[in-house]
Amino acid sequence: MSETLINIRERIDFLGKAINHHRFCYYILDNPEISDSEFDKLYQELTELEAKHPDLISPNSPTQSVGYNPSTDFRSIKHQRPMLSLDNATSIEDIAHYLQKINKNISGSDNFNKFCYLTELKIDGLSLSLIYEHGQLIQGLTRGNGSYGEDITLNVKTIKTIPKTLKISTIEDLPQNIEVRGEVFMPVSSFNNLNEGLIANGQKPFANPRNASSGSIRQKDPKLTLKRNLAFFAYFLYDNDKPLSHHFDQTQQLDILQKLGFLVEPNYKLCQNLSEIESFCNHWDEARFNLDYQTDGLVIKLNNAQFWEEVGSTTHSPRWAIAYKFPPQQAFTILESIDFEIGRTGVVTPVANLHPVTLAGSVVKRATLHNYDQIKRLDIRLGDTVIIEKAGEVIPAIVSVDLSKRLAAAQPVEYPQYCPSCNSELRQLDNDVAYRCVNYYACPSQKLRRLEHFVSREAMNIEGLGVSLLKKLLDAHLINSPVDIYKLTQANLLSIERMGLKSAGNILVNIEKSKENDLSRLIFALGIRHVGLNTANLLANYFKTLPNLAKAKIDELEAIEGVGPIIAQAIVNYFSDPHNIQLIDDLESIAVNTKNIELNLPNSGKLNQKSFVLTGQLQSLTRLAASELIKASGGIFKDSLSSKTDYLVVGENPGSKLLKAQKLGIMILDETQFKELVNDGA
Ligand code: IVH
Repeated sequence: MSETLINIRERIDFLGKAINHHRFCYYILDNPEISDSEFDKLYQELTELEAKHPDLISPNSPTQSVGYNPSTDFRSIKHQRPMLSLDNATSIEDIAHYLQKINKNISGSDNFNKFCYLTELKIDGLSLSLIYEHGQLIQGLTRGNGSYGEDITLNVKTIKTIPKTLKISTIEDLPQNIEVRGEVFMPVSSFNNLNEGLIANGQKPFANPRNASSGSIRQKDPKLTLKRNLAFFAYFLYDNDKPLSHHFDQTQQLDILQKLGFLVEPNYKLCQNLSEIESFCNHWDEARFNLDYQTDGLVIKLNNAQFWEEVGSTTHSPRWAIAYKFPPQQAFTILESIDFEIGRTGVVTPVANLHPVTLAGSVVKRATLHNYDQIKRLDIRLGDTVIIEKAGEVIPAIVSVDLSKRLAAAQPVEYPQYCPSCNSELRQLDNDVAYRCVNYYACPSQKLRRLEHFVSREAMNIEGLGVSLLKKLLDAHLINSPVDIYKLTQANLLSIERMGLKSAGNILVNIEKSKENDLSRLIFALGIRHVGLNTANLLANYFKTLPNLAKAKIDELEAIEGVGPIIAQAIVNYFSDPHNIQLIDDLESIAVNTKNIELNLPNSGKLNQKSFVLTGQLQSLTRLAASELIKASGGIFKDSLSSKTDYLVVGENPGSKLLKAQKLGIMILDETQFKELVNDGA
């Protein structure tokens, strides 16, 4: 292979991994690290490279799926019709090009004005699929990876603007089974209230309403979802038994959806031509900030459903619609100074202090500069006039410097050589772009960030113990490591200024409650490098106890589906450190749960010696994990089928065992039924 091809392959590989990482941050952690426009650039580069080199497309490439694989917390269910995404247009020229293309595709027509386009606001939330049978809401799924979504039915039922029973009597000839798709979102006013409450409680606020809705709709306890005041706009009505060409036109759909009891976003417009679409785009680019929900663009849909199948779709998106993204919001301001912040792994992140400026409806005073390379790349100097950008309403970033406004006195940025928190040396490790403080154990800043991570919502979820309180406790030498949190007394907390009896009591209750958390939360809370929520889940299911995980050898870790060599090495490194082994012992000795909850179930013999055989691939469990689950629940796992087998569990692409089991009259279970059986007992 030529050298350039190797480079291209490496670049494709790099982009695929980076995109998957950012999708994970966005979809699972609700904590994006880069703006939407930066993400779009990566994605566009990958699609362009793949278009030029189709033989280098890997089945795992992010272009081959949408979103992120569903979180293992919720049951994963296959969508009746894949939930696709949309192609993006970022300029009016892109829209013009798109309209020309689909007009050509529709039989015998090159008449631009023959078709009407329904132009809707694109709500910045999460898409949901709702299934109604005989007018009753029976299922609510997230988009997940587009083919499988997370079953969040109970949470969906708490949303006031989603009808539980449809007003069917108002519509004639409506099918018995329908699917409604739309966007769940958090109104901006509710988002502001929620964040005020979180901050007052010492917790980290959500970055934007979209992340807040994603976090709220995926709560394990529906009561929490209920409190979050989510809302829903419907935009699609599907009869899953019929081809798309038999569907109602988009305008009719919106009309019927309203009659059925849904809210639809009211500002849609039927446009006859490009110039009408253009005026609509320009109007809403400004007017959107007056709405109580966030919109990041428009969706332009071919109104006439009769042509939808004719124009077709790719595996990623239908061609009968396109999303227009509003240009990112930018502003000019002055860079006043740079702080060098130390994260929980010691990485130094330069953060710019800016002259306050209003951008996309809020005042911005700080922006991230990511790393030293970014400062070099932008050649940024103190006192420079900089352009900041907020796309997708994540943390603003400095995108460029206005060199024409540079003052002669503008000072180059001096990189610190020593940690601003503990004065230890800052070093670049393993060809990483990042510099790190090498004083892992004693650096106060690293300690604080590790504790902050330990108590955070996705980790041990200790409400009330926010970063400012943790800092005060550290400064007062009342805590030093996560174990000390569990040793805090009421008197300790009351010694902190402005701490009341009631808050102290609540915090102690929350600390105590966190001892019962699942093992997966604890694994994530330890902050092992590269171990995110998903990996923590896999490890908890596989190893069952924290001491088992601590003893794991590299080969065993690598053999787990979803754990690659880098993660495996990071886990081994973590547990080869005696400080960390001590931490586990200490956590166990103060009764923090270190076992997978399943093992704690009183009735672990519920499968009652029944025998199970598996064929095909299960969505949420590997073969090994399924066999472990069967054994742990008192069942017998067998490789081959006989007349004595009690159950055949059938996944995707089953083999010949299915036919054999049918002939032998063996009870057949799909994945959902299997999991129900494991949970409820045979
Ligand atoms: S139509 C095949 N209409 O935008 C998907 N989507 O970028 C057709 N969205 O996944 C979707 N508002 O989550 C449609 N009025 C609207 C929308 C909308 C927001 C979201 C949706 C979709 C994403 C595509």
